[in-house]
Amino acid sequence: WWERVGPAPKDPILAVSEAFIADSSPLKINLGVGAYRDDEGKPVILQCVRAAEAKISGTQFLESLSSAASTKLVEDSVRLVYGKDSDIVKERRFTGLQALSGTGACRLFAEFQRHFYPESHIYLPVPTWSNHHNIWRAAQVPVRTFHYYHPDSKGLHFAALMDDIKNAPEHSFFLLHPCAHNPTGVDPTEEQWREISHQFKVKNHFPFFDTAYQGLASGDLDRDAKAIRIFHEDGHLIGCAQSFAKIMGLYGHRVGCLSILSVDEKQAIAIRSQLQQIARAMYGSPPVHGSLLVSTILGDPELKALWEEEVKVMADRIIRMRAALHRSLEKLGSCLNWEHITNQVGMFCFSGLSPEQVDQLVREFHIYMTCDGRISMAGVTTRNVDYLANAIHEVSRY
Ligand code: LMR
Repeated sequence: WWERVGPAPKDPILAVSEAFIADSSPLKINLGVGAYRDDEGKPVILQCVRAAEAKISGTQFLESLSSAASTKLVEDSVRLVYGKDSDIVKERRFTGLQALSGTGACRLFAEFQRHFYPESHIYLPVPTWSNHHNIWRAAQVPVRTFHYYHPDSKGLHFAALMDDIKNAPEHSFFLLHPCAHNPTGVDPTEEQWREISHQFKVKNHFPFFDTAYQGLASGDLDRDAKAIRIFHEDGHLIGCAQSFAKIMGLYGHRVGCLSILSVDEKQAIAIRSQLQQIARAMYGSPPVHGSLLVSTILGDPELKALWEEEVKVMADRIIRMRAALHRSLEKLGSCLNWEHITNQVGMFCFSGLSPEQVDQLVREFHIYMTCDGRISMAGVTTRNVDYLANAIHEVSRY
């Protein structure tokens, strides 16, 4: 047995964490995985999470998640994305399931897509989170790509993106990042989102949003949901994967949500029953504890307000580190243009460093990032920012 099994290729993001852990240098910095750290480089447990934990302690949650609890999480998540007074909640034109974080939500949707639209493809932006490719491939949905990032401007390749949307066959499925695009940190403007939404309507495309960073781009939850709300105003039936890993610091709890809008409540009920059947065959039901934490925070006005403040603290620290890194590179006299560091938003900066330069950063400076030059800004601190700027300057000056 098992002679035929060779080692799998390394994951481009998780392999960075492994290499970082194996490095014994005191200088080492991990800018690989997108996980928030405070200015001391430490993981953060939010105050609102601690308060929610105290509130639910003693709750009996050893049974698997009741349908009512899952429904509540979906409704809370939908309100977060579409607004607390959204008509879709009043009219019950949504459905969904608690999912195993954003990854699980994407996978559940990919399975659903293949089951009901077996001839369809998924269009992914170039580039996108590397795992999006794995997820749709594993669900046996063929992947096509659309233009997104322009390496010269280090910004959005809007004209090519619009062409790809226009040229895709009618009724295509597209994956979109509504804010803090991973890995580039490049988001369309509000006006550009309106044009994209309009073109989706013209072509009857289906928008599937993967939102893992709501609040972490601008510090404002409503503002970071604007793209999805524009699509909703335009009457799209939207699919949405949400993760609470980063925005509530619940990484290990795997709390997420897959929601899908429907034309009416009857359709919503049918979609939910199909999703339940798919989930039942893949993993049964998701863990309960994290979901109770999320619902407790979102359902308590004081805890929700505290959470909003804490999201803003995280977003503001990242924004400050962008400015500090930019300033430091300028002070060092780098003749390259680093404006994209502050123009891009969210947890990631797509630095433009080449794979060779990234290698050199590891070898000479013990600085780790993915080989596409993506920097997790969450790993940058007041203490390490000048060391990082100096290292980037050294590998990019010739
Ligand atoms: C990332 O892009 O680093 C995060 O989404 C974490 C992950 O699981 O890849």
